[in-house]
Amino acid sequence: MKITYFEKERIFKLDTPKTSYLMGVVDEENFLGHIYYGKRIEDYNIGYLMRTDEPPFVPSKNNRERGSFYDTFPFEYPTGGLGDYRESCISIRTEGGHVGCSFSYVSHNIVKGKPDLTGLPATFGDQDSCMTLEVIGEDKHAGMKVALYYTVFADTDAITRSVKIENMGENPFYLTKVFSACLDMDNQDFDMISLHGSWARERHIQRKTLGYGIQNVSSFRGESSHQDHPFLALATKNTTQENGEVYAMNFVYSGNFRAQAEVSQFDGVRMSMGIHPEHFCWKLMPGAEFQAPEVVMIYSAEGLDGMTTSFHHLYKKHLIRGEYKDKKRPILINNWEATYFDFTTEKLLSIAKEASSLGIEMLVMDDGWFGKRSSDNCALGDWVVNEEKIQGGLKYLVDEVNKLGMKFGIWFEPEMISPDSDLYREHPDWAIAIPGRVATESRQQYVLDLSRKEVVDYVYECVARILRSANIEYVKWDMNRQLSDLGSYELSADRQGELYHRYVLAVYELQDRLTKEFPHLLLENCSGGGARFDPGMLYYSPQIWCSDDTDAVERLEIQEGTALIYPLSTMGAHVSDCPNHTVGRVTPFETRGIVALAGTFGYELDVTKIPQEDRDMIPKQVAMYHKYNDLVRRGDYYRIASYSQNHKYDCWEVVSEDKKEVLVTFVQVLNRANFKSRRIRLKELDPNKQYHIEGEERTYSGEALMYAGLQIPNPWGDFKAMLIHLVEA
Ligand code: DGJ
Repeated sequence: MKITYFEKERIFKLDTPKTSYLMGVVDEENFLGHIYYGKRIEDYNIGYLMRTDEPPFVPSKNNRERGSFYDTFPFEYPTGGLGDYRESCISIRTEGGHVGCSFSYVSHNIVKGKPDLTGLPATFGDQDSCMTLEVIGEDKHAGMKVALYYTVFADTDAITRSVKIENMGENPFYLTKVFSACLDMDNQDFDMISLHGSWARERHIQRKTLGYGIQNVSSFRGESSHQDHPFLALATKNTTQENGEVYAMNFVYSGNFRAQAEVSQFDGVRMSMGIHPEHFCWKLMPGAEFQAPEVVMIYSAEGLDGMTTSFHHLYKKHLIRGEYKDKKRPILINNWEATYFDFTTEKLLSIAKEASSLGIEMLVMDDGWFGKRSSDNCALGDWVVNEEKIQGGLKYLVDEVNKLGMKFGIWFEPEMISPDSDLYREHPDWAIAIPGRVATESRQQYVLDLSRKEVVDYVYECVARILRSANIEYVKWDMNRQLSDLGSYELSADRQGELYHRYVLAVYELQDRLTKEFPHLLLENCSGGGARFDPGMLYYSPQIWCSDDTDAVERLEIQEGTALIYPLSTMGAHVSDCPNHTVGRVTPFETRGIVALAGTFGYELDVTKIPQEDRDMIPKQVAMYHKYNDLVRRGDYYRIASYSQNHKYDCWEVVSEDKKEVLVTFVQVLNRANFKSRRIRLKELDPNKQYHIEGEERTYSGEALMYAGLQIPNPWGDFKAMLIHLVEA
C-alpha cells in the first residue's frame, strides 16, 4: 500500500496490493479531478485522462465562458448549483436561500493508520496496516471547508472514503445533501448490480444494463431496509464470477442512503453513494462540523469473486470487532418459531433440557417476556420481566439454563414504543410523530425519538438493567418497523431535517455503550429479519439475523446475495420446522442443516415436538458444525453455481487459507430426468496439491478439480443437499 503526491504534476496516487487510484489538481481554481481507478499501475503521469484540453471543457482562466466545462470534467467530489448538471455530491443552502457551492483544493495530509469517524462506525487499522490521505478543499464564498478522506490497506484491495464538512464562515448554512463518495469514469458498457428484496426475501441479486440517465437504489425508511441495499456495483458487460471488471461501493451506514449511477450525454458515468437527501437538512453553525459516513470502494479485475473476496477480507479484519470477531459462536436455539408469544419458564426449560441433551449450547428467549406482551400489539417500552410467564423470575430461568450447561440469550426491541404501553401513556411525546397529525402505526407500534438524550438514556438503562440482573451472554437487538411521520417534539423547526441521521447516530451510541459495558456479550442485530444487515451494524455486532424466511430453498438466494458482500461468519442462519412458517415448503431436515451451516448456525423450532428422526439428526449436525465452522468462518468463500440463475441447483465452497482443505456445498433444488451427475469446477485450490474426499482413497489433483471438475452424483429427489469435504492427500 502507498499514497504518494507528485508535486510537479499535482497528482495523488493511492495504491493497494492490486489496484491504483489517481486524482489530480487542475486549473487556476484548483479543481480536483478523478483520473483513474483500476488495476495497479506504476505510471502516475496520466493526468491527460481528465481531458482538460478537450472541448467542451473551457478552462476556467476564461472565467466568463466556463458555462459548459463543469458538465464534462471528472470531478472527484462534485458540487451542485454552478453548472455541472449531473447529480452533485453536496448541496448547501445559505441563509440567503442560495444553493451553489464549489470545491477547490487547498492542502493535504498523508498519515499512517486511520483516524476514527466521530460517532460513526468505520473500518479501522493500525499504523502498519493502512494509511490515510486527507484532501482539504474550500468554497471561500460559502465559508465551507470540505475534507475528503481516503484510506488504503496493506492486506486488502479496498479503498475507504468519507467526507467532513466544516462551516468556516460567520453565518450558519444548511447542508441539504452530503454524499460520501463519487467515481466519475467513462462508461465501459456497464451492467448495474444491486441487491433488492422485501420482508423475508432480502438481498436478491439484480443485474441490468446501465442506460442513459440516473439509475439508483435507495432507502428513506430510516434503516438500510429489506427493499434496497446500500450496495452498488458496475460491472463490464462480460463480467462473470471469475472474469471482468467490477467497481463496487458499500455504505458503512444503517440509515437512509442513495447509491446511484448516472450516464451522461458524453457517455461518462458518475457513480455515487451517501445519505439520502430526501428529508435531510443539517444546520451547520459557524465552527461546526458534519462527518458523513464511510463508503467502501472495491475494484476487481477478477470478476465478482474478486470483489467478494476483498469485501470479506476487509470486513473480517478491519470492521468486525469484539470477543467474537474470530470466535466460534455458540449453537443457539431460539423459541420464536417454536412458541411465538405463548411460553412460560416451564416451556422454555423443557426446550432447553432437550436441546442441551442434543448438544445445543444456548437458549435464546425471543419476543414476549416483558410487560403485558402477549401479542405484537402492546408493551414495547415496558422492559420489565413478566413474572406471570417467567415464573420464578429471569435470574431463576437463566440459572436453570446455565445448570444445563447452556448459555442464555434474550431478545429486545429497544428503539420502539407501543401506543398500548405504560411508557407511551407516560411519555406520548417520546414517539416520533408530526405534532397534530395522527401518526402511522406499523405492527401497532411507533418509533422512539432517539434524538432526545433522556430517551436514549431510558432505553439504555432498560436494556442494561436486565443484562445486569442475570448471566445473559447474548442479545438479539430487533427493530420491527421503519420510520415515517418524521417529527420530534424536542427539535427546533430548523433542525427537524436532522432527525433521521440523529436517530441512526443514537442507535450507534446505544450499541457502543452496550458493547463497552458488556464486552463479553454476543450481540446479534436484527430488523424484522434482515432489514438492517449492513456494515454499520457489523461494527457493533459480529452477526446479523439474515431473514425471517428460514426455508432452506428461499435461503439459497438470500444467503447468496448476502455473501456477495458479507462474510459467512456474519449471517444468522437457523434450522426451522416444516412446513416452513413463511412459505409452507417441506424440505429434508438434513438440507435445512446444511444450508444453515453456511451461516452462524442454530435452531428455531420446538425441539420437544419435531419428528424423532429430525431430533436424531441434531447431534450429527452439531458435530458437523464443530468440525467445519473454523473453516467456514475463516476460509475464503467462492460461488460455484447459482440456483437463482440456473433454477436447478446451487453450489459454493469455502477453502482454507493454506489451501489444504475445502468444503463444497451442493444443493439440488429440483431434480431432472436423465441426469446422472453434474460436473462442478472448484476454485482457488493449489493446482499442485493432491486432494481426496474425506473417507475415500482416490485422489484428485488441484488442477483437475479446478479446470476439469468434480463429478457430483445427482441426488434422487428435490431439495437435496450434500457436503463434500476435500483435504490434502
Ligand atoms: C422479527 C424477528 O426477525 C423475528 O426473528 C422475531 O424476533 C420477531 N421479530 C419477534 O417479534
